[in-house]
Amino acid sequence: MLEAAKQLLIPSKRSDVPPFIVMDVMAAAAAIEAKGGRVIHMEVGQPFHPAPTAARAAAQAALAHGRIGYTEALGIPSLRARIAGHYKDTHGLELDPARVVVTTGSSGGFILAFLSLFEAGDRVALANPGYPPYRHILSALGCEPVLIETSAETRWALTGKALIAAHRKTPLKGLLIASPANPTGTMMDADHLSQLSAVAEAEGIRVISDEIYHGLDYAFAAETAANISERALVINSFSKYFCMTGWRVGWMVVPDSMVRAVERLQQNLAISVPTLAQVAAEAAFDGRDEMETVKHGYEENRRILTAGLPKIGLKKFLPVDGAFYLYADVSTFSNDSLAFAKRMLNEAGVAATPGIDFDPVNGHNFLRFCYAGSAAEMHEAVERIGGWLKQA
Ligand SMILES: Cc1ncc(COP(=O)(O)O)c(C=O)c1O
Repeated sequence: MLEAAKQLLIPSKRSDVPPFIVMDVMAAAAAIEAKGGRVIHMEVGQPFHPAPTAARAAAQAALAHGRIGYTEALGIPSLRARIAGHYKDTHGLELDPARVVVTTGSSGGFILAFLSLFEAGDRVALANPGYPPYRHILSALGCEPVLIETSAETRWALTGKALIAAHRKTPLKGLLIASPANPTGTMMDADHLSQLSAVAEAEGIRVISDEIYHGLDYAFAAETAANISERALVINSFSKYFCMTGWRVGWMVVPDSMVRAVERLQQNLAISVPTLAQVAAEAAFDGRDEMETVKHGYEENRRILTAGLPKIGLKKFLPVDGAFYLYADVSTFSNDSLAFAKRMLNEAGVAATPGIDFDPVNGHNFLRFCYAGSAAEMHEAVERIGGWLKQA
């Protein structure tokens, strides 16, 4: 082939984002299962429970009705109003539904948020460890993710001091925070959130708050950044609390002045979010009792793991405040979390995610366990890992 023709087959530099290693662990687990083996899945962060009954019924009714057309780019008005009502019910916040934007999961929200808030080249601060797509989406869009180290001492949360130190080195344009956080399951209380947000805004740093694990808080109630500043951009989703990962529907609360820009982007990038998923999402709010029962199941799982893991030698982790993750320091056993996770999968039949997915610096010492499965699986996982660690 001619050299010029070969060049036509080379992907762009911006598409050269790292893979999501958890997907590789999933594939390895599937290969074991295809050969008849049994694996306890604690790698992927998704609920085992289906969407609320009311959500599934609403989608079925809409499907039976026939035509599924586009919706308004910002989302079905009654869904936007319902989401605004959710802020009143949960946080006592009067929110204008005009500020609510329905998105294709929070993943779709990140793209709209980053495009509407930042120019190419802008630097955006993220806590390390953190959810890998934050940094990968930012770099694919030409922005620069700036990882700020956190540690167990600050409960894996960013501090105003660390933010300012990074900002003084080279100015930041944005800050993305998450509470409860993935992979650590730790939370910032309302005071911490307010202080961090005030420090950022005083320096002209725009605040984005990923609130996808709201509702799954066990230690104390999560505060929304929308209650702290009307300049904050909030991202949320039906994926986790409402068990609707595959429906691909989420939302944002955006400052008034940003609504039209986000609308124009959404019109061009997606036209609208899948209609059936929006219909189901609106009805999901009627399924809160069902989802609270699911949440109590996670609380029980959290109890089983926090009591069971130390007994088998996995002692170093913080008491998890929310979400459905436990981030354990496994350095007593290995400082190669990828190899450790592979061996644990092959030899103990338990799949977990190596910390290097979330933290390129210290992740080789950590494993993330997702406890969104059943209580019986949690007991079995502790037993299997314990037996394996004894032999290893
Ligand atoms: C912290 C965090 N944010 C966002 C997402 C993306 O979720 P979705 O696009 O399904 O809303 C995930 C998924 O695991 C997550 O853990």
